[in-house]
Amino acid sequence: MTPLTIVVVGAGSISQLWFPAITQRDDVDLVAVVERQPEVAHARLEHHGVETGVETDLAATLERYRPDVVIDLVVPAARHGVIRTALAAGAHVLCEKPLAATLDEARDLVAAASDAERIVMVSQNRRWDPNHVAVRGAVASGVLGDLVAIYGDFFSAAHFDGFRAEMDSPLLLDMAVHHLDLARFFTGLDAVSVYAEEFFPHGSWYRGAASATVSAMLGDGVHLSYRGSWVAEGHQTDHNGRWRIVGSAGTLLYADGAPPRVELAGDREGLVRGVAEVPAPVPVLPFVHQAGALDAFVRAVRGEAAPPTSAADNVGTLELVFAAIASADSGRRVQVR
Ligand SMILES: NC(=O)c1ccc[n+]([C@@H]2O[C@H](COP(=O)([O-])OP(=O)(O)OC[C@H]3O[C@@H](n4cnc5c(N)ncnc54)[C@H](O)[C@@H]3O)[C@@H](O)[C@H]2O)c1
Repeated sequence: MTPLTIVVVGAGSISQLWFPAITQRDDVDLVAVVERQPEVAHARLEHHGVETGVETDLAATLERYRPDVVIDLVVPAARHGVIRTALAAGAHVLCEKPLAATLDEARDLVAAASDAERIVMVSQNRRWDPNHVAVRGAVASGVLGDLVAIYGDFFSAAHFDGFRAEMDSPLLLDMAVHHLDLARFFTGLDAVSVYAEEFFPHGSWYRGAASATVSAMLGDGVHLSYRGSWVAEGHQTDHNGRWRIVGSAGTLLYADGAPPRVELAGDREGLVRGVAEVPAPVPVLPFVHQAGALDAFVRAVRGEAAPPTSAADNVGTLELVFAAIASADSGRRVQVR
């Protein structure tokens, strides 16, 4: 099988997870890295023992190498231009989250991918986590009965500098995008309407709103309640957050990297019915996180399977994110569909 040729754009912090994911496969071939700061790319490649050319001009590099694939790891504000340039050069694109810095840009990329007959897929890497596949499997099995509500909490204290320190909504656009995508993945449901508030916590080291609460109505009348903060020292959650999913027959809990647990109502008569714990099997995945996204993308480019987090699908996640931002700005509930 001829390896797919890859150009990576952006060799910042997240690229340290991508270079091992790429170089462990023998069905892909990294032909060049494009970075605005070439010294950053050289240092990163040397660290990972990867020998490949470093370029600074994306269009010229694509013209020269004609790669099958561009992997876009740039900051969100630069993503739309990079993906547009890659599609114009005939490449399929796998990009980091968020797909775009605005909903209009995201929709434009969906249309551009369709026009170019190329795949644009977003690495929502937390979907390739065995515990998350277990949560999804348990909910989809119907064991919880009719879904009622999903609750998510994320509290952390990351002292980032760089682009996050300057964003208007670093929590909602750069981090909650993971959690709101997980809420869609876990339930299989999209937002109908969203009410949200954003906060500027006392002592925050971010310019923008680093905390938020989101209250959304999803399809089938399922309620989503999410609280998140980047400015929460002490008792931090992990980056996947803590989740409670309530159905008419019982509840699933998932927290702190432990496998999800399902408790159903027991069959005792009277005031308290008791509980019965049922298993939520955790699968073994051949590839996890970025490597999982890359594997799904390679199979999609080879025509073996549909891309699970295509740009078109990911618009559903960004609808939640941007409706939350619009609601926080206006103080009103935002209707999504
Ligand atoms: N999935 C995750 O868990 C996760 C974690 C961290 C970051 N990310 C995402 O990855 C992306 C990058 O984040 P990061 O932390 O690596 O940022 P970073 O600032 O460390 O790196 C970004 C790099 O892109 C380069 N760059 C910017 N514009 C460019 C352009 N037009 N052409 C070439 N290079 C360009 C910059 O010089 C920089 O080296 C963001 O979208 C971020 O949200 C995802």
